[in-house]
Amino acid sequence: MRILFVGDIVGKPGRKVFSSVLPGARQSDGPFDFVVVNAENAAGGFGLTAKIMLELFDIGADILTSGNHIWDNRDGLPLLDEENRLLRPANYPPEARGRGMATFEKKGLKLAVLNLQGRIFMQALDCPFRRADEELTSLEAGIPVLVDVHAEATSEKRALALYLDGRVSAVVGTHTHVQTADEGILEGGTAFISDVGMTGGHGGIIGMESESIISRFLTGMPSKFVVCGKDSRMDAVVIDIDEKTGKSISIKRLSLDS
Ligand SMILES: [Fe+2]
Ligand SMILES: [Fe+2]
Repeated sequence: MRILFVGDIVGKPGRKVFSSVLPGARQSDGPFDFVVVNAENAAGGFGLTAKIMLELFDIGADILTSGNHIWDNRDGLPLLDEENRLLRPANYPPEARGRGMATFEKKGLKLAVLNLQGRIFMQALDCPFRRADEELTSLEAGIPVLVDVHAEATSEKRALALYLDGRVSAVVGTHTHVQTADEGILEGGTAFISDVGMTGGHGGIIGMESESIISRFLTGMPSKFVVCGKDSRMDAVVIDIDEKTGKSISIKRLSLDS
């Protein structure tokens, strides 16, 4: 089974480059059995709307994961309850809308996707390690599991990957928007990368125009972030999984411009 996992899509430039490079990626690295996309920044950098969610499905996303920014757009919040192809991190308190894991089926292949969020330099949430244990216990045996760990610290992401090694097929990091070069297969057969990167304008600062971000650093005052449209690229990974054993065979980084 071959999966394309696409790093955080940031605003219109992100959706545009996702749409323009996906057909080429399918040709050079496909076919993909599942396309999984982190969509937490898809609407102007902050959250999601129904229209933009449908746009991502139309372009070719099968499943959407998210993270801390999924709550930023109020219009998108009902989607977390209504759309079963949209996940939010599983370790939010039980009262939070939506869900953090689901099993998907396409052309006879099954894939479970689990979304988690880190706690280092981020909001205090429930323990992602224990929540992963709980979610995996409830899962039917024999289904490959892809985990999106949305976290700031590489240590926490690698700790989760090694903790889950051999129990899930892949652990891919998101949230920093910067692709790391540490991809590989862990001892137990779990594919891992600390961060897949970002799909959007790489010419600014993690997807935003540099001026507003620098101004915030210089003045300490809030400033309006503007989505960056320069140097658009789609950062992603291609993961091959042996669906009989659930172990990964390979993980390959992509960073494609249009
Ligand atoms: Fe993000
Ligand atoms: Fe994030």
